[in-house]
Amino acid sequence: MPRVVVFDEFGGPEVLRVVEEPVVEPAAGEVRVRMEAFAVNRLDQLMRSGASPGVVPLPHARLGVEGTGVVDALGPGAGGLKVGDAVVLAAVPDATVRGSYAEYTTLPVTQVFARPAGFGVTEAAAVWVAFSTAYGALVEKAGMRPGDHVLVTAASGGVGRAAVRIARRIGAVPIAVTRHSAKRDDLLAAGAAEVVATDHGDLADAVRHHTGGAGADIVLDVVMGPGQEELVEAARPGGTLVAAGFLDPRPTPFPTGASLTIHSYRSFEHTLDPVAVKRMAAFLGAGADRGALRPDVGPVFTLDEVVEAHRHLEQGLHDGRKIVVTVP
Ligand SMILES: NC(=O)c1ccc[n+]([C@@H]2O[C@H](COP(=O)([O-])OP(=O)(O)OC[C@H]3O[C@@H](n4cnc5c(N)ncnc54)[C@H](OP(=O)(O)O)[C@@H]3O)[C@@H](O)[C@H]2O)c1
Repeated sequence: MPRVVVFDEFGGPEVLRVVEEPVVEPAAGEVRVRMEAFAVNRLDQLMRSGASPGVVPLPHARLGVEGTGVVDALGPGAGGLKVGDAVVLAAVPDATVRGSYAEYTTLPVTQVFARPAGFGVTEAAAVWVAFSTAYGALVEKAGMRPGDHVLVTAASGGVGRAAVRIARRIGAVPIAVTRHSAKRDDLLAAGAAEVVATDHGDLADAVRHHTGGAGADIVLDVVMGPGQEELVEAARPGGTLVAAGFLDPRPTPFPTGASLTIHSYRSFEHTLDPVAVKRMAAFLGAGADRGALRPDVGPVFTLDEVVEAHRHLEQGLHDGRKIVVTVP
């Protein structure tokens, strides 16, 4: 029988276990995908540990909001694809019931799209969450335009690297933020126009220097916490800040006195809209063609090593590269 990753209680990586389960027939409008690989995300870690804001139904909860595989069966009325087509999962909304950490999963046909040409399995498994989040936050929410100076926090991370590449692709100017100057060359190689290392000088001063004194037009904050005050200072008056993550668990002070438009962003607000999914997939496909929009894949594990994959994420050993698990 096919295998699937489940957990019966909240806790550390060790609560994950691989069990066997029969395949499920796709309902009307659904597709069954034989998975080839999935990526491990921060959201999975939150769900597994009991820190997710959403309800996780225990016992026997599943995980995984992205991945790639091959169409195995189509339910009634599920058009546009045929058995054998290689697809990318564009978010699994009910991941705790039928997540992508499995040999097979079913989901609405509107939540998959053709695997971009030239993408390997591990890249295809890791592209959606990071790139759709960065695209949704910067393009759909903040209205990023060519020439905009875009300050990208945690730029060495999955969402950050995607944001840098998307900004470049659109003709904007990505300014990457990292806590470590040692990452400067890596971030420049990843496409950053400038790098601001917070272990080396004042963030707002550096951003003003790189923007001719104006400040950043758009700030993508996936860190939050007390550091957000400096980001607000680094933005130009009338600019936009999109808060899309929370790597820093400390409270975030309310941004007083800032003449900024502030958005809070969760990618599901776009990825559950089939029209937005189509738009994002088209953008990614076009960028992938020219090699401009690709995720950086780090450590790759097998399904039997899923606990180790989560340990890697928790300990930060992935260094911002996407952690991928391949499925035999
Ligand atoms: N809104 C959404 O829909 C959505 C979707 C996906 C992810 N997210 C969220 O976005 C955030 C980033 O996700 P990700 O997948 O890009 O993470 P990630 O790949 O694990 O990010 C790793 C990078 O973040 C930086 N970092 C880690 N802890 C930090 C801290 N306490 N303060 C400042 N920087 C820190 C580090 O960069 P340096 O060492 O170079 O500083 C590290 O290389 C997470 O909170 C995640 O939950 C939100």
